[in-house]
Amino acid sequence: MHGGNLAWAAALAGCSPSAILDFSASINPLGAPRSAIAAIQNSLDLLREYPDPEYAALRSALGKFHQISPEWILPGNGAAELLTWACWDLAKLEVTYLLTPAFSDYFRALKAFGAKIDRCPLKMQGNRSKFKIQNEKLSLQGAGFLLNNPHNPTGRLFTRESILPYLEEFSLVVVDEAFMDFLTPDRQQSLIDAVQNYPNLVILRSLTKFYSLPGLRIGYAIAHPDRLNEWQQRRDPWSVNVLAEIAAIAMLRDTVFQHQTWDWLASAKPLLFSGLEQLPGLQPLPSAANFFLVKTEQSSSEIQRQLLERFRILIRDCLSFAELGDRYFRVAVRSRDENQRLVESLTKIL
Ligand SMILES: Cc1ncc(COP(=O)(O)O)c(C=O)c1O
Repeated sequence: MHGGNLAWAAALAGCSPSAILDFSASINPLGAPRSAIAAIQNSLDLLREYPDPEYAALRSALGKFHQISPEWILPGNGAAELLTWACWDLAKLEVTYLLTPAFSDYFRALKAFGAKIDRCPLKMQGNRSKFKIQNEKLSLQGAGFLLNNPHNPTGRLFTRESILPYLEEFSLVVVDEAFMDFLTPDRQQSLIDAVQNYPNLVILRSLTKFYSLPGLRIGYAIAHPDRLNEWQQRRDPWSVNVLAEIAAIAMLRDTVFQHQTWDWLASAKPLLFSGLEQLPGLQPLPSAANFFLVKTEQSSSEIQRQLLERFRILIRDCLSFAELGDRYFRVAVRSRDENQRLVESLTKIL
């Protein structure tokens, strides 16, 4: 269901998990930042203490980063934990419109609380494979809307202006911005600065993809303090561990790493796109994020199997996205050399 299943891939490829070149999880290949690793190493003594249940230092660092007051921010055990709480709120509504294809965890979290889900499929537009929200499907007051921006798996970026009208219509809008950091600040379309005007808006952010620390588990929600206080009172205490808190504070300050990431992506991404585009039967979709959804004339699970068995390369098939099935796969952007290896391996297979 998720990318990055290296144990499964290694069993198929007949090698150790560390020998797999993983394009299936969309994680920044430059990380983890040295600043975060050093902060963790220097703070191991803190493991003897409980975390601050209010996460005051981290909230303050996040507040500074986003220029928003700390009580509007709640750190969590990855965006995934906060998604669960957002879905708890969505489940209180009559129905939740879910933009599909959707990250599989949305279904997990919505179903956990018995939310009624109405799929709102992104429509393919023309032969440039641009996806569009089908507005005519969306109507109800008393309903919620869950979407992500940039959208996983299509890479589509919705403008702020295209989402703002939904805040007037829906009782609750949850925008998962897990991949927003990959865009340079001038291109980001975050709704964080709208939160103070809309108590019905929840933003979810992840620190695990951009900073390449999915094993650490750290994300945060930005929403009205009343909502966040309610979540805080209901959830397990100390859901963010001390090392995650310390690392997050260090990497938010690491502007060098942030700029290195934007520079790497600006040079590696267009090359990977054109490499994929030139292959017979493949059509990568334009993407605002650090991954591409690729349409394929051949079976994507067959391509995945061959890449694994012959080249120890793992891509993400899209079988768990009901709307996409076996005619799409997703690849992360990695270093230029690794991307080249992917394109050359695909050339041999196709
Ligand atoms: C769209 C999206 N949102 C959220 C997450 C979860 O992020 P985290 O690792 O912060 O829990 C993922 C992870 O794959 C994701 O793809």
